[in-house]
Amino acid sequence: MPPDYPPSRVNPLDPPPRFAHLRAHEPVSLVRTPHGETVWLVTRYADARFVLGDPRFSSDPANPGFPQIRPAPEGPRMPGIFLSMDPPEHGRYRRMLTGEFTVRRMAALRPGIQAVVRDCLAGLLGQGPPADLMSAFARPLPALVICDLLGVPFADREFFAGRSEIQLDRSRPGHEVTAAMAELWDYLDGLVARKLADPAADLISRLAVQRVRTGELTKDDLVGMSRLLLVAGHETTANMIGIGMLLLLRRPALWAQLLADPGLVPAAVEELLRHATVVQQGVVRAVLGEVDLGGVRLARGDGVIVSLSSANRDAAVYPEPDELDLQRHAAPHLAFGHGVHQCLGQLLARAELTEAVRALLPVPGLRLAIAPDQVKFRHEMAVYGVRELPVEWH
Ligand code: HEM
Repeated sequence: MPPDYPPSRVNPLDPPPRFAHLRAHEPVSLVRTPHGETVWLVTRYADARFVLGDPRFSSDPANPGFPQIRPAPEGPRMPGIFLSMDPPEHGRYRRMLTGEFTVRRMAALRPGIQAVVRDCLAGLLGQGPPADLMSAFARPLPALVICDLLGVPFADREFFAGRSEIQLDRSRPGHEVTAAMAELWDYLDGLVARKLADPAADLISRLAVQRVRTGELTKDDLVGMSRLLLVAGHETTANMIGIGMLLLLRRPALWAQLLADPGLVPAAVEELLRHATVVQQGVVRAVLGEVDLGGVRLARGDGVIVSLSSANRDAAVYPEPDELDLQRHAAPHLAFGHGVHQCLGQLLARAELTEAVRALLPVPGLRLAIAPDQVKFRHEMAVYGVRELPVEWH
């Protein structure tokens, strides 16, 4: 019987040690998913990039063999969720959004992001010391940014954050996940209807006017795309801020290094993304045609899990891969994936992370308020991170 996936972590800040063994001895190996299917696990960086860049590996759950690593039973595929589509269909949706996430657009959004970061920092400082960096800063920050961008009322944040959290929780029974998904769908359906009737200056309104009214997208397509952006843009970034700050503050020398040279922040953000790789369950694909990889032959109908966490610790690419080295050239890491599905929001995520660290640097004497071994982690969540991060300052 193949071993269970995912294997357990030993050190909460490192991926399961089994990955290092697999990279060395069995880079493409069989594992058993929580649903009892046997699928291939890809652990090396080069193999991971190969799989994510090759059209013989499909993201469409309708294909035979597509691994089920989420608790919810896969229902009929939802419209507009292009994360689960293959080319050429995938490109049709993605292209409608690329203009919203360009370097230029991100530069224009920067002052807005900085204003959100300032508000979140004021909220954090107003609560302490000590205060929980997760609830006061890391969670509201990306929620405010994505709400602004999409045109989702921030007051509804508790509602959608709660629903996305349930969707990503592997320990929840399938019916709860299905119910949460349906509630989020209904909520966004109402929101899209309001934007169609009364458009404003936001991304959902732009798509409503330019694509739905013209018949290029259906209303359900836009509901699905909005859902994807809302969920993808919130949990990942919030958890990356939280675990990134833990990684920096638990080693005061690293924080001092950034204080001495704030120009290092963008490189540090890349290294934190690589080291933490919060999409801890990896990404999944179904094999569409025969492929030889890592000494084994994959056949049509096989399932594949690509471990981004493992690939990002591959010593063939990163010397001393378990070290957090703020000066290393961590990119191109695989924390945002690779290939046609590579994270659409990566420039936005980088801008948020960079501004978050820059804003926290001047807080005098910022440090953890509990011992690092007291921090609780989100082991059962698809997106890894810390539950709380109590911090204090002078
Ligand atoms: C796709 C990670 C932030 C939107 C992905 C994928 C990864 C990822 C690994 C690839 C999935 C696959 O290949 O199956 C992350 C991380 C983030 C982050 C680690 C933060 C640190 C964001 C943000 C947005 C976003 C802020 C904003 C809107 C998306 C979308 C896709 C995606 C729409 C699907 C792209 C496609 O299928 O073409 N993300 N993401 N992500 N991400 Fe992100």
